[in-house]
Amino acid sequence: MPNNRNVYIADLKDKTGQEVTLSGWLYNSRSSGKIQFLIIRDGTGLCQCIIEKGKIPDKLFDDLKRLGRESSLTVTGTVRADERSVGGHELAVTDAKIISPTDSYPITPKSHGVDFLLKHRHLHMRSQRQWCIGKIRHTLIDAIRMFFNDNGFTLIDTPIFTSFAAEGEQTLFEADYFGTPMHLTQTGQLHLEAAAMSFGKVYCFGPTFRAEKSKTRRHLTEFWMVEPEIAFIDLDGLLELAENFVSFIVDRVMQKNRSRLQTLGVDLATLEKIKPPFYRLTYTDAADILTGDRTQKFLAEQLEQLKNQKQQTESKIAELEEKQKGRLKQWQKDKIAAELIELRTDLAETDTKIENNPKHAKLASEFRWGKDLGGSDETIISQMHDKPVFVTHYPGEAKAFYMKADRKETKVVLNFDLLAPAGFGEIIGGSVREDDYDLLVKRIAEYGLNAENYEWYLDLRKYGSVPHGGFGLGVERTIAWLTAEKHIRQCIAFPRLMDKIYI
Ligand code: 4AD
Repeated sequence: MPNNRNVYIADLKDKTGQEVTLSGWLYNSRSSGKIQFLIIRDGTGLCQCIIEKGKIPDKLFDDLKRLGRESSLTVTGTVRADERSVGGHELAVTDAKIISPTDSYPITPKSHGVDFLLKHRHLHMRSQRQWCIGKIRHTLIDAIRMFFNDNGFTLIDTPIFTSFAAEGEQTLFEADYFGTPMHLTQTGQLHLEAAAMSFGKVYCFGPTFRAEKSKTRRHLTEFWMVEPEIAFIDLDGLLELAENFVSFIVDRVMQKNRSRLQTLGVDLATLEKIKPPFYRLTYTDAADILTGDRTQKFLAEQLEQLKNQKQQTESKIAELEEKQKGRLKQWQKDKIAAELIELRTDLAETDTKIENNPKHAKLASEFRWGKDLGGSDETIISQMHDKPVFVTHYPGEAKAFYMKADRKETKVVLNFDLLAPAGFGEIIGGSVREDDYDLLVKRIAEYGLNAENYEWYLDLRKYGSVPHGGFGLGVERTIAWLTAEKHIRQCIAFPRLMDKIYI
């Protein structure tokens, strides 16, 4: 094959001075008389291609000038290193071929509502932001597998169809399995416990389903979860494993995605802090924090900051609106329009936060021991910390039936949630499992579950029961945290939401 074929933008760094052909889509273009600047994307990156009139046939020059965003084409030219250029290299074009022209790409740099973009996710996934998130998701999943594979865990693929509830019957999706009612799995954990008794250290990784009737930014109805399960482990051992695991995957994501994280506006310094040990609080400590004066003071200060932020955003908007009235080139108009969209979105978010702040302050002050931590409670605790926080020893009544009661303080269970810092909230839930046959039978009855469905699970406590435990990390929530993305629907290619499946 000639060496100017099949060159990817990501490989241009090794091709300076050479003539290459790139194949891709037109991401953006502008022209200033005799020179055109085309930004091409090919799935591996962006490259600015410079076309001078006279260097290619006039007809082609004019056709390229009219070419709409997302038209597909090939361009041939000489690679030049240029630090100022997107991707660090540019192409001095000597030839081009339009593969499929379009002038009606529905997504423009101008404003589009969330609904429109979700309906067009099949196209919107080409945007820089969605592309960066998709690449980060890919390395996160690779890092997750690497961590467990390199630490002696065996992968067990657990089933999607199940006959029982593990995480509460209210969130089960029903399926008709040849006339027998069945459910889509909420977790692979129960099957994994059986596997841990054979292999010692195991993990499963796949899609899980919850009919969550909440439209929050943290909930999907189909999400990906990785779950390790280990025989002969206690709560301290689980916390240590979880903090080493999270630190490893964050480090790996950073190493592989520095420029993508920067494109997304992520403050890398905050991610660099993610190293063991993480903070450790008991649920009772967390309840004391929520109802204490420090939290009310913290929230009052936060409200002041939000109000300042609102003022600053409003004046920036006014400034740009004034600028818009002047004589501007089309690309300058587009740039301002795009900036205004972002600022107005920020403003709407700040307004929501200002509105919610007193509600969250009230919920926190009224928090009573025994309740599960709510989304806003988790947000407050996580905002008060600069590293992830383990919250351990929840009241048994607020948690799943399989969690092991603390033998010293039987009202609480040996469990933990891991809250990501800066307000992102829970990314992991885990526990030591009840390994006593009689206590587990009692819990199953207390939760009103059909004991017949759990006979095989109880067998594990009959035949060589051992202390064991594990946890589950939600992939989309972790990505939302790492990419500072506000809504987890942006963190999976084709999200499944409570109110709608778009495509
Ligand atoms: O805390 P959860 O419900 O724990 C379990 O399912 C355990 N069986 C795991 C185990 O011990 N093996 O869920 C674990 C994590 C949460 O911390 C969150 O990151 C994610 O799964 N998660 C969701 N992510 C998106 N949308 C939802 N509806 C989610 N529900 C849970």
